[in-house]
Amino acid sequence: MIKNYDESSPRAETRTIKPCPRLEGEIILPGDKSISHRAVILNSLARGKAEIDNFAPGGDCLSTVRCLKALGVKIGRKGSRDSPTLSVSGTGEDGLKEASNVLDAENSATTMRLLGGLLASQPFLSVITGDASLRNRPMGRLIEPLRLMGAEIWGRGRDSFAPLVIKGKKLRGIDFTLPVPSAQIKSAILLAGLFARGNTVLHQTILSRDHTERMLKQMGASLESQGNSISLLPLSSPLVPLNLRVPGDISSAAYFLVAAAIHPNARIVIRGCGINPTRTGIIDILLAMGAKLKIDNKRLEAGEPLADIVVESSELKGIEVGGDIIPRLIDEIPVLAVASCVAKGKTVIKDAGELRVKESDRIATVAGELSRLGAKIEPLPDGMVIYGGRPLSGTEVDSHFDHRLAMSLAVAGLVAKGETTIENAQVAQISYPAFWQTLLAATSKEPT
Ligand code: S3P
Repeated sequence: MIKNYDESSPRAETRTIKPCPRLEGEIILPGDKSISHRAVILNSLARGKAEIDNFAPGGDCLSTVRCLKALGVKIGRKGSRDSPTLSVSGTGEDGLKEASNVLDAENSATTMRLLGGLLASQPFLSVITGDASLRNRPMGRLIEPLRLMGAEIWGRGRDSFAPLVIKGKKLRGIDFTLPVPSAQIKSAILLAGLFARGNTVLHQTILSRDHTERMLKQMGASLESQGNSISLLPLSSPLVPLNLRVPGDISSAAYFLVAAAIHPNARIVIRGCGINPTRTGIIDILLAMGAKLKIDNKRLEAGEPLADIVVESSELKGIEVGGDIIPRLIDEIPVLAVASCVAKGKTVIKDAGELRVKESDRIATVAGELSRLGAKIEPLPDGMVIYGGRPLSGTEVDSHFDHRLAMSLAVAGLVAKGETTIENAQVAQISYPAFWQTLLAATSKEPT
């Protein structure tokens, strides 16, 4: 298999996972990655200072911070490594400044696409690149709508891939139907639309995560969402800074939700987990598979819903997953595949062709690596069929430099016989630097 992350990336790490007699604990989640990207980007544009607590500590959001600093934004950081507080001095009327070098989004498509939209509307030249994985991911879907707005933006491979060159200028609003349910593209167009002439109207055939819309409204933008359509007026004055505490990341919680559900002797409590309805597909599917999962203490912070979740050992059964729910759990499909290997009966995942253009081709890599552990999985062009209930057996597996695959394989290792050794496990730091430590703590309890 081709390595799709820069081979030069630091400190290759191998992690070994063994089954444990008891899985128990209270999980502290990292801040939500999607919300953190948006919080630091939008506050960089605001007039005044904002504090962002529980900012996502992983590599992806740090890539966004580095790019914004290169564009002249003053961003300070304090607090702990795993739950930092950022103070962002918004540039307001002064605006962003041309970066003196190429911007590097590293492994983060959200950084590249959101900043791509924003920079298309700023009066200077930008060049943005990423690591080998990101330079392989589709950027035509970003370039096409931005060009309809009048943008001057080019990419490698006949405008298909990064690096992207952007000659920023005044854009015009568009009325556009998103061909893929991508929150990154939706957000990129909205960011461009903030500085355009005329309204921007977007139609979604299937809803994707709506953090940008929620945050823009909180920060004073004129944005209305009605059904699957969004209408945005250009800014007449800078955004108002938004102080917030970022909710825990449900995509990170998913590893522990599944681990507890499939482990024979488990109880896991997760506090302060984001439960935005555009993100909770994994909860809906686990419940439908028979998981003993309870949601308590629902509340709202900075316009985002959150709650505490308790999961216990469960008897899962296979399920069919497809259609509108896919964008609501797209990042959780690797770990859902692990749950399906343990569940009784067949699970069919379809309408998920987007998996092929994530940090790795997640249909090929998930099916390939779980098969090495003894699972029976048939890849489909847009998903996979998983024949659950076969015993897994530990062996050597590889993350393919995909953070979500590394952590999903660790969950599989908890229920596989013997030792599961995960190569290139360091990549978990992209979204969850404390994952290995948190897993170790939850697996070191005496059996009850
Ligand atoms: C994200 C949107 C999704 C998701 C990604 C984060 C976001 O990607 O898979 O991890 O923060 O907007 P797409 O927009 O490509 O579907």
